[in-house]
Amino acid sequence: MRQKYVTPATVLVVAVVLVVIAAFASIRDGSNADSHEHEHDDMQSHDSSHHDDDKSLSDEPSGVIKDGERVIEVRARQFEFDPNSIVVRKGETVRLEITSEDVTHGFNLEGHDIDRELKPNQTETITFVPEKSGRFQFRCSVYCGRGHTDMNGELIVIEQDG
Ligand code: CUA
Repeated sequence: MRQKYVTPATVLVVAVVLVVIAAFASIRDGSNADSHEHEHDDMQSHDSSHHDDDKSLSDEPSGVIKDGERVIEVRARQFEFDPNSIVVRKGETVRLEITSEDVTHGFNLEGHDIDRELKPNQTETITFVPEKSGRFQFRCSVYCGRGHTDMNGELIVIEQDG
């Protein structure tokens, strides 16, 4: 009686051994796929190059110089200022030309005593000389809808030499 069970058991053991060998072989194949790791290396080097881009962008003043003034065109619309990051130099005359593309918005600039209404499809000219370097928030100061409180941006005043 016992002998009958030995034979199927042996077959089972052999089968298990074959499966283990097959699994081991597939693991070794997997370790040959080094190319996947190199792809990760490439992605990391791309990431580090982004930091350089960010730096040069934030150091470059916005707009163009016209008649000795830095003129920057800004679009206001529900619910954003475009651009929402403006870079100027301390001590220069800055002229913002802000056009609302839809409804009435407002332009309030922290630290500069500026708060102007922006009527639909009109261009408001706001001229000032930034006296202090730093970061100053600007925001929409006229309720314009659900996204009104998200409608803001930043004026970055850099040193004259920078
Ligand atoms: Cu735009 Cu409030």
